[in-house]
Amino acid sequence: MKTVNIGGVREKIIERSDYPPAKLKKILGKETVAIIGYGVQGRGQSLNLKDNGVKVIIGVRKGPSWKLAMEDGWVPGKTLFEVDEAVRRGTVVQNLLSDAGQKAMWPVVKENLQEGAALYFSHGFSVVYPKQTGVRPPKNVDVILVAPKGSGTTVRRHFLEGRGINSSFAVHQDFTGKARDRCIALGIAIGSGYLFETTFKKEVYSDLTGERGVLMGAIYGLWLAQYEVLREKGHSPSEAFNETVEEATQSLYPLIAENGMDWMYANCSTTAQRGALDWFEPFKKASKPVFKKLYKSVSSGEETRITLEANSKKDYRKNLAKELKAIADSEMWKVGKVVRGLRPENQEGLAAGKKKKRTKKATKASAKKKPAKKKAAKRAKKR
Ligand SMILES: NC(=O)c1ccc[n+]([C@@H]2O[C@H](COP(=O)([O-])OP(=O)(O)OC[C@H]3O[C@@H](n4cnc5c(N)ncnc54)[C@H](OP(=O)(O)O)[C@@H]3O)[C@@H](O)[C@H]2O)c1
Repeated sequence: MKTVNIGGVREKIIERSDYPPAKLKKILGKETVAIIGYGVQGRGQSLNLKDNGVKVIIGVRKGPSWKLAMEDGWVPGKTLFEVDEAVRRGTVVQNLLSDAGQKAMWPVVKENLQEGAALYFSHGFSVVYPKQTGVRPPKNVDVILVAPKGSGTTVRRHFLEGRGINSSFAVHQDFTGKARDRCIALGIAIGSGYLFETTFKKEVYSDLTGERGVLMGAIYGLWLAQYEVLREKGHSPSEAFNETVEEATQSLYPLIAENGMDWMYANCSTTAQRGALDWFEPFKKASKPVFKKLYKSVSSGEETRITLEANSKKDYRKNLAKELKAIADSEMWKVGKVVRGLRPENQEGLAAGKKKKRTKKATKASAKKKPAKKKAAKRAKKR
């Protein structure tokens, strides 16, 4: 465990090295982990746990998830069960149904939970808003949370690449006196690179704000606004898209990921630097009231109400598909498809052999470039 001073706040960070395989085995060796739901998180977390030597069973209703679980090698009657049976067999029950599914299936989960089990969530949603969800865990179980900061697909992909995903963890109720250890061990075993502590409430408030805000909602809103202005002012679709999305995702965001915002600014033209430094404040000023409104809607439970109402409808997937199709069919994303297709690596004309050659050359070139990159990184760190 490391205490890190982050932005003036001392935070405790749990790393993989704090829970090496022998310690994981000691804590989880006798547990049967029932993963309820086999969506993106259920799939990623269950496969990682299994590969880490944990005894895992899956609990899902018959349907697309059941089929997918069978395709992945889970065996009906042995490692694949209906939800009630899996909950009964689990000493750890990882509730990874969709949040609306958690509400619908709560009576079944609650009825079959064993005393002393650990009831695990990857989102504070169900527990923090009991009025809307009805989820009130009984007193005789541990209630814990590990929330990977990324899609279940990334959880699995990073694990297979030997990397980790950062996750938050929280203990809501400690019945057995072992809740914290169980929680952290599970967090490491599902593939987290490091874990930081939170509460159920803070996790759900920040998560709902983040995905509605900068991570997904706000970013698309901003991109769309800029794209529309450029188009209205007579710029071509490809120019508007390149200046709004392609350059961001292909060039600038990876630089932010590598070394931070100042590093990205430092690696742009002086003209771009001046403009960005002058304009980020007006954008912040314009959007902060919207973020405040959003946070209020999250903390009042309004976002939960809207989400559960929409996602509990029978035709939820059909309506979602319609909304997503409208985005795909909009000019901006039709242009996006064409622009992505123009990336050399996506050009059909490149035969596999040619591709290999280019890759080799590219590897050589990037190998040559590395020292310069390292020097630049050092320079940036010094600043
Ligand atoms: N996705 C993410 O990026 C992410 C990241 C961190 C945390 N989380 C959290 O992880 C949890 C799982 O999310 P997810 O994205 O993996 O969900 P998801 O992909 O939507 O998975 C839904 C699963 O729930 C089942 N399900 C839904 N409604 C059901 C019902 N009424 N009865 C029985 N089964 C039902 C589905 O089965 P069918 O196939 O039969 O419909 C499917 O197996 C959520 O709490 C979420 O907030 C998600």
